[in-house]
Amino acid sequence: MEHKVGFCIETIPGDCGAVLFGGTGDLAARKILPAFFNLYRTKLLPRKFYLAACGRTAMDTAAYRASVKEKLKRFCGNAGEADLAGFLELVSYVKADYDSPGFFTALAAELDRLDAGTGVFKRRFFYLATPPASFLQIARRLKAAGLLDETGAPGAWARILIEKPYGYNLASAIELDKELALNAGEEQVYRIDHYLMKETIQNILTLRSVNNIFEGTWNGRFIDNVQITVFEDLGVEGRADYFNTMGTARDMLSHIFQMAAIVAMELPASFRDMGVKEAKARLFSSVRKLSEEDIVKNTVRGQYGPGGKKAGAELAGYRQGAGVTPDSDTETFFAMKFYIDNERWRGVPFYVRVGKRMPGKKTRIVIEYKKSDGGVFGFAGLDYTNVLHMNIQPEESLILSLNTKHPGPKLCFTRRDIKLNYRQHTEEYDVPGDYERLLLDAMAGDQTLFVSSGDMNFMWNFITPIVELWRNRPELAPLLFYPSLSAGPKEAGLLLKKDGRAWH
Ligand code: BG6
Repeated sequence: MEHKVGFCIETIPGDCGAVLFGGTGDLAARKILPAFFNLYRTKLLPRKFYLAACGRTAMDTAAYRASVKEKLKRFCGNAGEADLAGFLELVSYVKADYDSPGFFTALAAELDRLDAGTGVFKRRFFYLATPPASFLQIARRLKAAGLLDETGAPGAWARILIEKPYGYNLASAIELDKELALNAGEEQVYRIDHYLMKETIQNILTLRSVNNIFEGTWNGRFIDNVQITVFEDLGVEGRADYFNTMGTARDMLSHIFQMAAIVAMELPASFRDMGVKEAKARLFSSVRKLSEEDIVKNTVRGQYGPGGKKAGAELAGYRQGAGVTPDSDTETFFAMKFYIDNERWRGVPFYVRVGKRMPGKKTRIVIEYKKSDGGVFGFAGLDYTNVLHMNIQPEESLILSLNTKHPGPKLCFTRRDIKLNYRQHTEEYDVPGDYERLLLDAMAGDQTLFVSSGDMNFMWNFITPIVELWRNRPELAPLLFYPSLSAGPKEAGLLLKKDGRAWH
């Protein structure tokens, strides 16, 4: 449902029930349950709503509610007792056995009971926050139990939300797609990339669309290069099992390319479902795949070793972590350069670096403009370029650096910044975060900020030759080690330095 308030269009979800598979997992505890709770707290949940959480652990609803309460207190800074009690009333627990058809039949009966109790009839979404190996099994069994049918009540709908990773290579992503298509229509499938849900990412489209000063110069005539940095200070934090098979390049690829798409795509005709999806698809079809020579010259892979200190103790390296073999060559850092072969971006390099155990958390997109010739001041040899920093998180700001005249009776130039903080005004503090936004959009049936199967195929097609070359011919692109909490392998700096540039 859309509400127009002056120039404002707001997404408001209709009444529905949510089913959370993986309800006892880490992702549920850290992100999904806090997001539901925050929607409740800020009165953004539908008026009639229930949340049925499913997990393999045997426990009853009372025990589950107690564990959720404890987690919410840990992961939400603002969990007051009255809000907690009100929210937990909406939550129930069903012990899951994803391999058993009997579980899904029992779940269907339980959901009918919850529907009847709340007055929500057959409008449900199923959030798959389980290990990816069970995605297909769950989809098949949901279908077999009739839970994906969109009939049986007026306005009935059934949606599946799928967490990443969407497959672990091209073949498995295609298989997942094929099988899903047998069980659910594409309009029922919501593939999550929570980066698209970040306010600061969405604001890039706004910046480009409704500020005339940018779009006219948003191209290779004016822009020298684009840089995307995604740094985290955390290591793999107990996710070695997952990480050993994925590595940073595959783990973060979707986030990188979704950000690149928002920066680089043509502005869509409409900011609704297909408009954005089609613009992204056209952009991805222009991304130049890396040749073997490109992979050798223009990719860098690294792994964190021991180093840095937290709470007074030296941090262990990746290979010393629990569940990791001492000779693991899984990368925890990845950098690359790529090009987009279309009118707008021909010849403009896109540099990307992403890593764990970096000196701090920092997600940032930088647009570096071409150097000015200085006009009438050309003789002075201007040394700076205009740089637009789009700070995505944790700092949420836009900084545009300008060349200005240095104050005083002499002619020299100085670099000054114009800065815009996103959360400056009170009403900007308590807006939905990324996971809240994705729940809201899924409940409202808005697929605009979800990922299409074509996006997934593009990404796997792009990354597969890279990881295969790393695996099959490691001598051509060796794994480089960097100390924990350092800025990554120096080769990531050389990637730009050899082009006469530097990271911002
Ligand atoms: C996830 C990755 O998708 O994104 C994690 O699997 C990563 O490895 C996380 O830590 C980063 O998300 P955010 O929103 O904290 O930047």
